[in-house]
Amino acid sequence: MLRKSSKLPAMGFITVLFLLLHSVGLCSGGATSQYVRKSEASIDMPLELFPPPSGYNAPEQVHITQGDHVGEGAIISWVTPLERHPNVVTYWEEGKINQKHKTHSITKSYRYYNYSSGFIHHATIKNLKCDTQYFYELGKHNAIRRFSFTTPPKVGPDVPYTFGIMGDLGQTYDSKATLDHYVSNPKGQAVLFLGDLSYADHYPFHDNTRWDSWGRFIEKSAAYQPWIWTAGNHELDFVPEIEEYTPFKPYMHRYHVPYRASQSTSPLWYSVKRASAYIIVLSSYSAYGKYTPQYTWLQQEFPKVNRAETPWLIVLVHSPWYNSNNHHFMEGESMRVMFEPWFVENKVDLVFAGHVHCYERSERISNVKYNITNGLSTPVKDPSAPVYLTIGDGGNSEGLADSFTYPQPSYSAYREASFGHATLEIKNRTHAYYAWHRNQDSNAVTADSIWFYNRYWYPNEESS
Ligand SMILES: [Fe+2]
Repeated sequence: MLRKSSKLPAMGFITVLFLLLHSVGLCSGGATSQYVRKSEASIDMPLELFPPPSGYNAPEQVHITQGDHVGEGAIISWVTPLERHPNVVTYWEEGKINQKHKTHSITKSYRYYNYSSGFIHHATIKNLKCDTQYFYELGKHNAIRRFSFTTPPKVGPDVPYTFGIMGDLGQTYDSKATLDHYVSNPKGQAVLFLGDLSYADHYPFHDNTRWDSWGRFIEKSAAYQPWIWTAGNHELDFVPEIEEYTPFKPYMHRYHVPYRASQSTSPLWYSVKRASAYIIVLSSYSAYGKYTPQYTWLQQEFPKVNRAETPWLIVLVHSPWYNSNNHHFMEGESMRVMFEPWFVENKVDLVFAGHVHCYERSERISNVKYNITNGLSTPVKDPSAPVYLTIGDGGNSEGLADSFTYPQPSYSAYREASFGHATLEIKNRTHAYYAWHRNQDSNAVTADSIWFYNRYWYPNEESS
């Protein structure tokens, strides 16, 4: 009895302290989901589940991305395993099969330690009509494969368009659930991919056959709609011990992007316009200090964004700037310090990141007031700031990041350690409906959703 009664004042003190902290806003964070997923390990699917297509030298690992700055071009990429030829894509507009066009590819191959790639083809087709279905064929004889895609509507301020968003996908059974859920949702028109693709670097000598299997894995989506690529740390493949000194070697051979169309000097950072969105892709693993190529490019990029043409300004980067998970905590901090003032000045709407294997959505906050003496180093609500979304929950073999910091910081609106993907449905220049879909057993369950208001045209406060 004595022991019990001595605890009561202490409990009361803790309760008062908790309420006090809440009242002064020191632990006024949002929600931490209580959903607990089944805890099996995420294991890679065996290679047998990624069979190559049938037929001699059949084209495989087919994927497309935007091929110019405005969406009137497409880069079509594929691999022929045995012979360089045919190195051509044949394509035609829906209903015009008698008016076929041909474009030859740029063909590459590379060695990585004891691995030799197949012939990797990239064909850029241009001057496509807007909002039009195209068919394309690759291969010859008994190994012809046909695919299709639809070009985006002409760029304009009120053009509706829906993006899917995935990151850190890998090739486990959980990765398959994520991709299958995305593919089964008919709304997605293009994917914003947030980096960390194949996780081949988890294998001895970064076994690049896992880059091939990943290319086969994503084909069911990536051959039919563009995936807009961001590079992550698992694309670095920098291993001096096995004399692999060229960072991003497999990634840059396999995944081409239209970086020159936005005057970038590197495929690791670039921009595209698509429908009513202006999408800027940054590289967390390339230099971004003052005067570096990436810094200079981004500085020159913001003045080019015309919100009367593309109201939605979206940035993709691998390492998040606001992350309240213990995993990778503050890894994005130095890039935030360099670039966040520009993001606030230019009213960026949304910043998507991956890297942390969980889901998190921030409040609209900034942290740009700090100098040595004023002590203002806490994120504050800021209507000109972006919302930061971490979607590093594709399902790779490293598993979930399920250790959050407590108390939940005030900048964090919602967080959950589950696998899943997101969708962003832009409706017009003012409104976009965003949803994050958790992999819940065999279903995709919408676990977080919000109407985002455009920062330039309708900078009101959102509520989820
Ligand atoms: Fe990562």
